[in-house]
Amino acid sequence: MVKVTVCGAAGGIGQPLSLLLKQSPLVSHLSLYDIVNTPGVAADLSHINTKSKVTGHVGADQLEEAIKDSDVIVIPAGVPRKPGMTRDDLFKINAGIVRDLATAAAKFAPKAFMCIISNPVNSTVPIVAEVFKKHNVYDPRRIFGVTTLDIVRASTFIGELIGADPADVKCNVLGGHSGVTILPLLSQVPGTEKLTQEQIEKVTNRIQFGGDEVVKAKDGAGSATLSMAFAGARFALNVVEAAVKGTSTIECTYIDLAAATPEAIASVKEATGEQDIAYFSLPVELGPDGVKNTLPIGAISDYEKTLFTAAATELKGNIAKGAAF
Ligand code: NAD
Ligand code: LMR
Repeated sequence: MVKVTVCGAAGGIGQPLSLLLKQSPLVSHLSLYDIVNTPGVAADLSHINTKSKVTGHVGADQLEEAIKDSDVIVIPAGVPRKPGMTRDDLFKINAGIVRDLATAAAKFAPKAFMCIISNPVNSTVPIVAEVFKKHNVYDPRRIFGVTTLDIVRASTFIGELIGADPADVKCNVLGGHSGVTILPLLSQVPGTEKLTQEQIEKVTNRIQFGGDEVVKAKDGAGSATLSMAFAGARFALNVVEAAVKGTSTIECTYIDLAAATPEAIASVKEATGEQDIAYFSLPVELGPDGVKNTLPIGAISDYEKTLFTAAATELKGNIAKGAAF
């Protein structure tokens, strides 16, 4: 029996994400929270003939009821970008939204696996961690920044380039979730040996700035929602599967390195030129308690080394900003 709560469930990501979660036989209760429109979304989804119960909760007065005893809480609440904005520009509004949702989670579902989608992820994950620490319920193995869309994009763009089925292309994407902090490791992907350096740099840049591609195309109507719902459901359901069935899945996700193995931490230090970085996306083996194991970065190319150096400075600033909030 798994209760999954989506916070921001009436939004551009929240609705299709909830639809995908409603299809899972592993979810017994799908709880939809937003400050608007969740009664309608919940009524609509509740007519789908899968076994999960769907409940809708609207407004801060109903947040406790929405969140109470959740096993998984997925947070795509907050504002999306418009053309010309960076993810960091969203901090002013989204930091407070995420803090308040995290506070409710720390009080009413302290053991929940927290899947944070709201941007800027590099900073919102440290915010959630600090709230949990303040309430003395912090377990770094249970809080995740959802960077799965970067991995999904990497599979698609690399697949197109090397002529492979994108569903079969597995590329680790490490670091954070914004521009130069997104670190796709193409050198580890079979089939990329045939690419020229120019092609590698071009596709790396496309993965790093894939979000901007969608923001530009939507032209003021928001950012990625459907591909994000796909990626968010994949991540959340992998967390559920690992917890319920003990299925061992490896997903790259942004975590507090306090949950990582000494080998993985050492590999981040080495790749970033001995910089101290508290949060980083790594390949994580999921288990019954969340992070079960973390894999080291592995061999990287000289070009990728230069990307790590550029990422480290920005990431450290983003983390400090979130932790201080
Ligand atoms: P949206 O505006 O369509 O939906 C956001 C929803 O959040 C709205 O329904 C809104 O009512 C709700 N909301 C606002 N304040 C709330 C609160 N206090 N409590 C609960 N709900 C609240 O936006 P969207 O396109 O769904 O994007 C949501 C967030 O996800 C943005 O911050 C966006 O940047 C981020 N995002 C992250 C990734 C990623 O890869 N991690 C990908 C895409 C988008
Ligand atoms: C994305 O990568 O699509 C999201 O982080 C949304 C954005 O602002 O680009």
